[in-house]
Formats: sequence, structure tokens, C-alpha cells
Amino acid sequence: TMDSASKTPSGNQISNFGFAFDIDGVLMQKSTPIPGASECLRYLHDKEIPFILLTNGGGKTESARIQDLSEKLKVPLTLDNFVQAHTPFRTLEHLKGKTILVTGGDPIKCREISKSYGFKSVVIPGDLHVHHRSIWPFHYYPLDDAYRPEDYADDLPKPVREPGVDTEDTLKIDAIFVFNDPRDWALDIQIITDLLISRQGYLGTRSNKNGDKSLPNAGWQQDGQPQIYFSHQDLHWSTGYHMPRLGQGAFQGALCGVWDLMTKGKPLVKTTIGKPHAETYFYAERVIHHYRKLVLGEEGDRSNKLKRVWMVGDNTNSDIKGANDFSGKSSAQWPSMLVRTGVWHPERDGEPNPKPTAGIFDDVMHAVKYALEFET
Ligand code: G3P
Ligand code: MG
Repeated sequence: TMDSASKTPSGNQISNFGFAFDIDGVLMQKSTPIPGASECLRYLHDKEIPFILLTNGGGKTESARIQDLSEKLKVPLTLDNFVQAHTPFRTLEHLKGKTILVTGGDPIKCREISKSYGFKSVVIPGDLHVHHRSIWPFHYYPLDDAYRPEDYADDLPKPVREPGVDTEDTLKIDAIFVFNDPRDWALDIQIITDLLISRQGYLGTRSNKNGDKSLPNAGWQQDGQPQIYFSHQDLHWSTGYHMPRLGQGAFQGALCGVWDLMTKGKPLVKTTIGKPHAETYFYAERVIHHYRKLVLGEEGDRSNKLKRVWMVGDNTNSDIKGANDFSGKSSAQWPSMLVRTGVWHPERDGEPNPKPTAGIFDDVMHAVKYALEFET
């Protein structure tokens, strides 16, 4: 009957809409839930209204972060409804067998994350510093006292001889990843720029290929050097301090500034994902489709196509811009909702730009109520 076709296997009404929630500044303030957030997620969970958490955050494995957030928000979350900024990197199959350099908030954890994605050979800047103290002349304070490179020695790729060149064996890096907000900017920028001007990614070499010979670093990014991937570019994020704090976008800006000085104005060729980039929204929408099937059953998904995803965010440049831009690219609509609990602040920032298409709300609870009223 019509009736059973419009119900989920457990008897809830099947919805043709869903939600995408930003985390920092919408659901959480650092490690504390924002009032109402937990109630919202539990309500949606109980009513089987599909939602995903779509964050530019990261720095922990998805499973570790989910466990932590499930406890704090008191709602069962799973890998099926969770996307961190770096989660889409797991699809870069062509790099899984290569050697990658990874940096981020806690590089040891970032190594763990990349291994969980299937990357086999992963180096962090700390490894390189420990093995070549002179690579960075200043003192380096590993964040984690537990960092003992010998624990990872077996993981480390073996140095290789650069073909046709009579030098010492050196490490060849095939790609560079920035997973979340690096803390050792100076060391990281030194090593990343070393690689970007190397011959084909052989650490400690210098390319002279083609390039403008008048420049001190003539072989910049045109000699098979590793590509650089950033997981997002948020300049600011909301942390619980009364003003937004610098995020990965600030690190990217610093690296670009040094690169500009080194190459006299050559733009840094890079790949950046995360909100507001369409790649991340495509990925997120695939995750929602998959999750809808799990929650609503195959039939529920087939008979009731996804029509709308309400994006609730606090950052106009990432959450709101991303949803607005993506609305035209997807068969579903992505109405955007801006909350007052995060990065955006009316007195400080004035009118939001870009504008949230569904409006401005005091907090996530008000946003969800509005969307639910709209849908019924
Ligand atoms: O590093 C985290 C931050 O830049 C943003 O996280 O959840 O607000 O997208 P979120
Ligand atoms: Mg946010």
C-alpha cells in the first residue's frame, strides 16, 4: 500500500530531505556541545531523518572522532554519516603505493589516518628532522613526548638512488598532504618548499629544469615534483575563544607567502578540497545517498528521492558558499543556514557574504526547527 511504501522498515515516515551539519561553531565549541545540538541530532536520529556531519576539521581517524563525538553529543554516529576535511583523500588510489609526506596538527595521528585510508608509505616532517638534524637548524619540539621515530623505523620508506645522478641515496616523496592545522609551521614550510623545488621529489636535490634561470629556484613545480594537497583552507575557525582563531588557511597563506618570495611571484600549484569546494560536496552527497539507503531501506530510497539537504554552518566562506555553489551542481537543493554561535558575528562582520539562502538562526536548534516546519 501507499502507506507501507512511505514508511521506513522501523515504521517512521520516509523523508525526502536531510541535513548536513558543520561541527565547530554549530554542534561543538571546542570539546563542549553547543546547547540544543545534542537534542537536535537525537530527534533526527529517532525519526530516521538522514543527516551527516560535514566538517573541515580533522586530525584524528574518523573512527576515533566518531567515538568521541557520539559520547559528547549522546547520539550514535557512524562512519556512514561522517565526513572530515581529509576523508575524501581515501579515494586517491593512484597514490596509495607511493611515498607521501603528511603534516597536520598531530603528525603522528595524521600518519595513522593516512594509513587507515590505505597509504602504505607515510613520512612526517619529524621523521626527516630526526634523521637529518641539519635539515632544519633550529630546535624542534615534538608535540607528543611519546614520539619515538624508532617506533616507526620499519614503516619508513628506504632511501633510493636518484637515477643517473651520482649522489647519496635520498628519500623520494611522491605527494605532500596537509591534513589539518599544522603546528610546526617553520619546519613544515622548510621541508615542503625543499620538495617543491627538488628534482622529482628527491629530498635534498634542486631542480634546474626549464624555469626562468634568473630565479634562484628555477625548477619550481615543473620537474615531476610531488603535488601538494590541502584538506581545507579555512582562514578562521570557532574554538571557544571570543574571536575566531587561525586555521589551516593561515598556514596555506604563510606557505604561499614564502613561495612567492622564493619564486618571485609564481603561483603555488595546489589542490585544495574541503568546504566550500564542490569535490567535498559531491563526496558528501554520495555519503548521504548511501546513508539514506541504510536508514530508509533500498525501497525508501528509491521511492522517495533526495530532494533537499539543509546545510547548517557558521562560516560564510566555507559552509554557506559551498552549499550555495553546489545547489546548481546537484539534483538536490542545498539550502544554506547560518548560525550565530560560531565564526560569523553580526556586529563584527556585518551582513553575511555570501548570504545564507535559508536565513540566519540563533543556533542549530532554531535552524533545525525552521527546516522541519518547512518540510511538513
Ligand atoms: O579545523 C577545523 C575548522 O577549520 C573547521 O571545522 O566543523 O567548522 O568545518 P568545521
Ligand atoms: Mg564551523
